[in-house]
Amino acid sequence: MRKLSPTFIYFFGALGGLLFGYDTGVISGALLFIEKESWHVSSWAWMEGWITAAVLMGAVIGAIVIGPMSDRFGRKRLLLLSAIIFFIGALGSGLSNSAELLIISRVILGMAVGSASALVPTYLSELSPAEIRGGVSTMFQLMIMTGILLAYISNYALQGVAGNWHWMLGLATIPAALLFIGGLFLPESPRFLVRHDDEKGARDILKMINDNPDSIDAEISDIQLMASEEKQGGLQELFGKMSRPVLIMAIGLAVFQQVMGCNTVLYFAPSIFVSVGFGASAALLAHIGIGIFNVIVTYIAMKVMDKVNRRWMLNFGAWGMGISLVLMSVGMILAENAHIGFGKYLAVIALTVYIAFFSATWGPVMWVMIGESFPLKIRGLGNSFGAAVNWAANWVVSLTFLPLLSFFGTGKIFLLYAACCFLSIWFTSKKVIETRGKTLEQIEAELLHRVHHLNG
Ligand code: GLC
Repeated sequence: MRKLSPTFIYFFGALGGLLFGYDTGVISGALLFIEKESWHVSSWAWMEGWITAAVLMGAVIGAIVIGPMSDRFGRKRLLLLSAIIFFIGALGSGLSNSAELLIISRVILGMAVGSASALVPTYLSELSPAEIRGGVSTMFQLMIMTGILLAYISNYALQGVAGNWHWMLGLATIPAALLFIGGLFLPESPRFLVRHDDEKGARDILKMINDNPDSIDAEISDIQLMASEEKQGGLQELFGKMSRPVLIMAIGLAVFQQVMGCNTVLYFAPSIFVSVGFGASAALLAHIGIGIFNVIVTYIAMKVMDKVNRRWMLNFGAWGMGISLVLMSVGMILAENAHIGFGKYLAVIALTVYIAFFSATWGPVMWVMIGESFPLKIRGLGNSFGAAVNWAANWVVSLTFLPLLSFFGTGKIFLLYAACCFLSIWFTSKKVIETRGKTLEQIEAELLHRVHHLNG
């Protein structure tokens, strides 16, 4: 087998995240430039909602349908399939000349985004040694943030170009093609290979990513032990008693990550910048600034991920985000009702601090933990389920954002998300197990132990 550097493997393994970020981040800018008049739609606001929601809808489908197939056909083949779907969706979106075609293309794209979110965390966690697994898996979120940043840059840079929105959407074909080509060289996950009785293949791959050859025998026999205990699992196992602790943990992490309001704050950022007096173009630039800041903070998170307990990071992040949201809310209320200039600045600073906390903690940690917590026999399925729940929660939050905004008013709505941050602290302390530094097999054993303990 050809020797590949771990950096190559992790880079291309995580590249699906870049497409996830680009494809979800690019649309708000691209929508500004669509020639609405020529599209003859009765309600543009309604259509715009559908175009935006199409990716979320597709993502739920992609996560549910494509992810579980990876337990049967392998992580690598499904990653390649998702690259093809990414390509088709991006090409279709770029070439669209009607709202219907754009919505269909965006659903297809969403399917790829959803499948990547189910596959990449599993793939990365199965391919990294326990001591660096958190950092490696954080590359997924780093790629997502990089993709979002590239989307902001392309929105800004292509403003004046003819046919700009076609280019903005169509450019995503380039990383999709890159993912496919790089993906052809990627190795299969050693855990998947052991499960499918290819010990030699698994050993070759472990040699590529592990500096310490002595530990490989032990790792293979641990995986074999777990793999031999039970047959390939299905929905019955996923929802059965044995998986309950991990299932509750995954659902909670997936839902809390969204109901803390991350996407609404990111979406809201330009309006806040406009409200403090930036012009529209400067607000777009400020958005790029936020994008760069996000990437830097996520990079720092990647470096500390294996040095600090995951549960600690979750709670630290939840406190930080909760308090920032309260301050942001206060700032906006002050600015709106009392016209106090200071309020606006408080809101902008609190928003920036909120984003920093999210990017350093809940953003990456949720994906890392979903990728590493399910037992091998249902890992693909479980991860898909967790990702689908995350997308569904994302959808619910974005659907309810505008109605809640008009109900509560601009400032107060963020208090609701702050409450969710504080609630998550209780959840983490009760339901989330610590996974840092443990092998996937140790995590599996600990969760099994918890089930036996609960059953007395
Ligand atoms: C996380 C979230 C995703 C969000 C992204 C950027 O990956 O799961 O919904 O868009 O971070 O903030």
